[in-house]
Amino acid sequence: MKVAIVGGTGAFGRALAKRLHETGKDEILVGSRDAERAQATAAELGIAGGRNQDIVAEADLVVLAVKSDATLETGRELAAAIGTTPVLCVASDLRFAKDGVLPGRHQGSLAEEVARIVRGPVASGLQSFAAANLVEGDPGDALICGGQDRAKELSLELAGRLADRAIDVGPLENSRALEGMTAVILNVNKRYKAHAGIRLTGLP
Ligand SMILES: NC(=O)c1ccc[n+]([C@@H]2O[C@H](COP(=O)([O-])OP(=O)(O)OC[C@H]3O[C@@H](n4cnc5c(N)ncnc54)[C@H](OP(=O)(O)O)[C@@H]3O)[C@@H](O)[C@H]2O)c1
Repeated sequence: MKVAIVGGTGAFGRALAKRLHETGKDEILVGSRDAERAQATAAELGIAGGRNQDIVAEADLVVLAVKSDATLETGRELAAAIGTTPVLCVASDLRFAKDGVLPGRHQGSLAEEVARIVRGPVASGLQSFAAANLVEGDPGDALICGGQDRAKELSLELAGRLADRAIDVGPLENSRALEGMTAVILNVNKRYKAHAGIRLTGLP
């Protein structure tokens, strides 16, 4: 599939692009607000790149991988260009407090808000994947939530190339749990100087 990574110049987007390109199954496009920055990252990885609004227009799946607090603004800016193309949101809504990282909203999630902004279906997942583990190491299970639609179908297919197991964890509302779990992981990473991931037990 053709995958447009919006914010593909960042730590996560770049790692995702590198790993997916290495698996050789998909055509990856790296996006940025700035054409030159996109081209520079794309050239490093040996793939194509361009401005966010240009790469989303030709994709089968759009991965929204800008820094989390720019997710909604970026969704609004790109909504027309994305059209009805399925979206995978990897963002987490977090608050950084003195005593640690906390979940952000008391209700809802960034992914549910993105689903109200764009016209196509939205899935959410990969929040528990550390960028460092994507390039080398073990990212753990790939957890994906969303409606029974093309966004979840394509996201699970893509996630299956990144992890031993891509797991459907239910409707998009469960992004509240996935995004909240990022706060848990970030506290663990800080406390134990680690790049923690998640693995579910008890599955066949
Ligand atoms: N880092 C991880 O290990 C990790 C793991 C799982 C999920 N995630 C999620 O992946 C997403 C990206 O994380 P990251 O660590 O890669 O973030 P990042 O490096 O801070 O930023 C990613 C990209 O976002 C773009 N950006 C920054 N400010 C922006 C703005 N105001 N408007 C539009 N675009 C903006 C930048 O691209 P340009 O300047 O080139 O446009 C930047 O390269 C986040 O939602 C994060 O929660 C990260």
